[in-house]
Amino acid sequence: MIPHPTCLSLDSAEETTRLGEALAAALFPGLLVCLRGNLGAGKSTLAQGIGRGLGLRRMASPSFVLLREYPTSPPLVHGDLYRLQEEEIPSLHLDEYLSQGYVVLLEWAERFQATVFPDRWDLCLETPFLDDPDQPFDRRILRAWGHSAASLSSLERGIHRFTSQEQERKGQR
Ligand SMILES: Nc1ncnc2c1ncn2[C@@H]1O[C@H](COP(=O)(O)OP(=O)(O)OP(=O)(O)O)[C@@H](O)[C@H]1O
Ligand SMILES: [Mg+2]
Repeated sequence: MIPHPTCLSLDSAEETTRLGEALAAALFPGLLVCLRGNLGAGKSTLAQGIGRGLGLRRMASPSFVLLREYPTSPPLVHGDLYRLQEEEIPSLHLDEYLSQGYVVLLEWAERFQATVFPDRWDLCLETPFLDDPDQPFDRRILRAWGHSAASLSSLERGIHRFTSQEQERKGQR
């Protein structure tokens, strides 16, 4: 399957949080969600939105414990690989979490060999306009891919939910 990325403009941190909430409704057991992007791109903001959509009031930073598990539906495990060396990653047993039906949500997923998991969303946040005075400073671009039929259709469902909710909000203003 050759996936085409979906591109979205996210004009504020709140909008990114709302995207996460909408995507949470489309998660399914055994899905790997890879959050990619530079320092400050908005990965944790998007992760918090996903957590909120699953009913969590707040997700603590996973930096020091490496992984945090949440008894949501589907169950969630959240990790940030920023400080990890590639050779340390197998000890996290992410494949076991996935086969047990957890959604695995990873920040700095570049450090993980994710390509063996086709039930995967790649969510890449970019900051192409930071130096452009004509663009809002908070603007981020998201490029999103699903890599299997199930991950692609669920991702499309989540993004559709988000774009319809945003249109409704704009219509109400
Ligand atoms: N459109 C946006 N989407 C997400 N965050 C944004 C946006 N605009 C501004 N921000 C702000 O950018 C800052 C950094 O976001 P965040 O911590 O989510 O990034 P990160 O990718 O997790 O960074 P790091 O790699 O350093 O952990 C936050 O203060 C957030 O509120
Ligand atoms: Mg972060």
